[in-house]
Amino acid sequence: MPTKNRSTLTQFLIEERRKHPDASGDLNALILNVAMACKAIAKAVAFGDLGDVLGDHVAGGGAAQQASVNVQGETQKKLDVLSNDLFIRMNEWSGHLAGMASEEMEMPIDIPARFPRGKYLLVFDPLDGSSNIDVNVTVGSIFGVFRRPGAADAADTPPSGADYLQAGSAQVAAGYALYGPTTMLVLSVGTGVFGFTLDPTLGEFMLTHPNIRVPEQTQEFAINASNSRFWEAPVRRYVDECLAGKTGPRGKDFNMRWIASMVAEAHRIMMRGGVFMYPRDTKDPTKAGRLRLMYEANPIGFLMEQAGGRASTGEFPILGIQPRELHQRIGLVFGSKAEVERIEDYHRNPAAVKDSSPLFAARSLFLSDTP
Ligand code: AHG
Ligand code: MN
Ligand code: MN
Repeated sequence: MPTKNRSTLTQFLIEERRKHPDASGDLNALILNVAMACKAIAKAVAFGDLGDVLGDHVAGGGAAQQASVNVQGETQKKLDVLSNDLFIRMNEWSGHLAGMASEEMEMPIDIPARFPRGKYLLVFDPLDGSSNIDVNVTVGSIFGVFRRPGAADAADTPPSGADYLQAGSAQVAAGYALYGPTTMLVLSVGTGVFGFTLDPTLGEFMLTHPNIRVPEQTQEFAINASNSRFWEAPVRRYVDECLAGKTGPRGKDFNMRWIASMVAEAHRIMMRGGVFMYPRDTKDPTKAGRLRLMYEANPIGFLMEQAGGRASTGEFPILGIQPRELHQRIGLVFGSKAEVERIEDYHRNPAAVKDSSPLFAARSLFLSDTP
């Protein structure tokens, strides 16, 4: 197996830190712990049924046994719970974190009293795309790192819930791991996006994808079309124009993908461009969207912007949104910059949508249920 002359993740982080002589190295140590959690999750994922990690997580004993449900009201898979535990265990001890928050936990996780508290906050989706686990399709983990506000004089007290509610633009680092044909870690510390592939024989993430840039030209889009009757007009217009292909207003044919694992779609878009949409829709008026702002949209948004792409609610940049609550949902559109801007444009000009889109009247594949 050729090893070439590649940096390890550790070497990469140390070299990045040398560019900032005042940096303490805490962030690097934190990222290496996150990477360790991801390696442990990758191992569990790779063993699948052999490791007894497939299926729903069951809580309670005897007759009270039932599948557990998280704060989102979603049934937890065994791997959701295991991945969450691994994230907590690999990160709580280090002294670099003031606290953590997870998709799988209703409240933020305080650092146990036996460990020192540090200055960073870690937010994570321990396993994204968990409906794919049992069918052996790519899943991943997503994380973002913030500074605790007023960290210097706050080490004696746990962070408040409000400390976590920072706009995505305040992230100091974000990344995702992908458990696919290879395990990858894709990371940004605010100096571009770098991809690392796990060498399973060394147990090291090796730099394989330096300076990832989201390709600007794209002919691929991703959306769950089963929700089309709930889409708002600007989204319907965008999709209709893609579907119209060469003879439509876009003048080219598009391809469509849907993996049902947002992190895997994000990676495909990092590699070959395209756009991903899980927009706000009218399916459930109590929910602004399907995906979560703090630990899904914000980290992926940070990475997209760092790679020259764009991430948006459809109307506004994701990274500018002031979160109201930890588990807040949001409409999410990201990918190649010009495509996301086009979708934002359609939202800004609803009148133009009506006038210029005859396609979603008679000819649309996705007919509106409103007259
Ligand atoms: P999670 O597994 O963390 O709950 O997130 C799953 C998300 C996301 O990854 C994916 O894009 C979306 O749910 C899939 O939704 P549909 O089932 O509506 O396709
Ligand atoms: Mn998720
Ligand atoms: Mn998840």
